Amino acid sequence: MSETLPLYPKAPKSTDKWNIAKKFVYGLIVILVFTYSLDYFTTSAEPTNPDSFCPLVPKIKATHDEDVIDMILNDKKFRKQSTERWSDSVKIPTVLFDGTIHADAVEDKEELYKLEPLWKNFEKFHDFLNETYPLVHKKTKVEKVNKFGLIYTWEGKNSSLQPIFLNAHQDVVPVEETTIDQWSFPPFEGVESNGFVYGRGVSDCKNLLIGIMETIELLLQNKFKPERTIIIGFGYDEESAGLGAKAIADFLLDRYGPQSIYMLIDEGSEGFMEIGGTKFIAPATSEKGYLDSQIDLFTPGGHSSVPPKNTGIGIMSRLITLIEDTEFKSMVTNGNPTLGLLQCMAEHSNIEKSLKSDILRAQFDVEANARLVHYLINEGGEQKAVISTSQAVDMITGGVKSNALPEHVSAVVNHRIAFEESVQSTSEKILGNIQEIAERFELGIIMDGKVLVEPTKNGYFNYTLREALEPAPVTATGTEVWNLFGGSLRYFYEDIMFPKLNETYVVSPLLAGGNTDTKSYWDLTTNIFRYQPGTGFEDSNIHSVDEMYPIDGHLAVIAFYYFFLQNLH
Ligand SMILES: *[C@@H]1O[C@H](CO)[C@@H](O)[C@H](O)[C@H]1NC(C)=O
Ligand SMILES: *[C@@H]1O[C@H](CO)[C@@H](O)[C@H](O)[C@H]1NC(C)=O
Ligand SMILES: *[C@@H]1O[C@H](CO)[C@@H](O)[C@H](O)[C@H]1NC(C)=O
Ligand SMILES: *[C@@H]1O[C@H](CO)[C@@H](O)[C@H](O)[C@H]1NC(C)=O
Ligand SMILES: [Zn+2]
Repeated sequence: MSETLPLYPKAPKSTDKWNIAKKFVYGLIVILVFTYSLDYFTTSAEPTNPDSFCPLVPKIKATHDEDVIDMILNDKKFRKQSTERWSDSVKIPTVLFDGTIHADAVEDKEELYKLEPLWKNFEKFHDFLNETYPLVHKKTKVEKVNKFGLIYTWEGKNSSLQPIFLNAHQDVVPVEETTIDQWSFPPFEGVESNGFVYGRGVSDCKNLLIGIMETIELLLQNKFKPERTIIIGFGYDEESAGLGAKAIADFLLDRYGPQSIYMLIDEGSEGFMEIGGTKFIAPATSEKGYLDSQIDLFTPGGHSSVPPKNTGIGIMSRLITLIEDTEFKSMVTNGNPTLGLLQCMAEHSNIEKSLKSDILRAQFDVEANARLVHYLINEGGEQKAVISTSQAVDMITGGVKSNALPEHVSAVVNHRIAFEESVQSTSEKILGNIQEIAERFELGIIMDGKVLVEPTKNGYFNYTLREALEPAPVTATGTEVWNLFGGSLRYFYEDIMFPKLNETYVVSPLLAGGNTDTKSYWDLTTNIFRYQPGTGFEDSNIHSVDEMYPIDGHLAVIAFYYFFLQNLH
């Protein structure tokens, strides 16, 4: 291996930053670090003991082609060519909008292209992959579902071993027309500058998709034969409807049956983070749930010269005020990956003594738990969302004319459901708010098509649950699969990426705030990791102007998968 540090051209940042990127960003770490004065820090290096909440994952040192890994990370020619392929993938604008006609709307492809030309880009993307990765397309079985969902199957030698399933998505979010001139480089040209590639999707998540393809092509070139079958799934609408992943899930369930997959790795948290002097690798082991509460209010119309005291808009305003004034309860219970992460920090990094004690007692000491919750809610900003169901009134419409009473007012409240809550408990809270206002204004209530209170002459609320998704089942820590993944990541960072630093990485669970395509895959495996190796790059402007990603990070994805897939037996 080269003695140089292939990542962090500017040297590892010493700041305690929450480096886990994307939709998973929370303020948790920032609070832990900045609200306690440094004077209070104790020294860490607690020895791992059998009663540990967060035992160190044993490092896995496997046989691997050091030369190839070295080539991936350090060879100038490989770097140039691999970056070019990745940049080329960004030039194909696999953009979808929320309202784009679904791929399965019509049977015939040409028919679909007439209805929605955007889909042609996906066919172009497939052709690009086929041309760019010829061995992958020759040696693995390529299948398509719903026209654009891609499934590659690389048969393992031992058919009694469960397959591993690697994921990424082909689609990217659109570029807001009005922001194009704010980009440093055109968003669909994949321009390389200063060690970064710029463009829509370069980070979310074509770096991962291309990284996986690069890895498999290299493994095939080097005549590797997997023991365990490797399945690769690329959905096509992760950022919108998620129907591609659903179709892939059905296909795999049909072929392999439920709980038939050894482990699944998808996009998610990234790289590692440093907190209180310790490095943490934190794959997301669960996701918060999701719900859109759509609330319609119907009230009698009429001329606004003789209005009632409160119009539908006034009543809806009171409901929204009440919703915001009654927040969801915050909690951190046993089994919540957020508590798991806190426990890892308490055991392995330098945090203030009393906080550390509260974290380690939170599982059985009600008062310590209450102090921890209080601390998390009050000492900072964003961290509250980590431990509570969120509510954001994101849409409102109502009224059509200045001299007519509004007959229909509508609001949508978006929720990310806490680990401890459910779609039902979330909707019950909102329903309680609706009931209070409905009683006060003598209105009926309909919920999801069921009449709870008969509509009155004053009108009624109509409450509809949309896009309901429970919090994801938790991937267990401490299992064989956890140790294999975590132990490989430790070896990767400690011995391959940063051999000179002589540091120990702690592998920790994490609760993700957003959802990925994995929401369709719960029936295939309980071992789901939403994580990608790479740099601890802080801000890749995901979904935003100047989306970018470091080339070093991209090469790290390839190097990790190249190493890891050889570790699977
Ligand atoms: C890839 O390209 C080859 C050669 O044009 C073609 O025969 C094959 O069907 C293509 N495979 C896929 C999956 O599109
Ligand atoms: C295949 O895997 C099974 C299950 O781990 C194992 O018992 C068996 O020995 C393996 N077969 C070969 C040929 O390695
Ligand atoms: C309630 O809202 C749902 C969803 O918008 C709609 O389908 C249904 O017709 C509405 N029912 C009434 C009685 O307004
Ligand atoms: C690496 O760290 C361990 C534990 O802190 C220490 O025992 C060992 O001597 C260190 N090795 C080097 C080469 O610095
Ligand atoms: Zn993504």
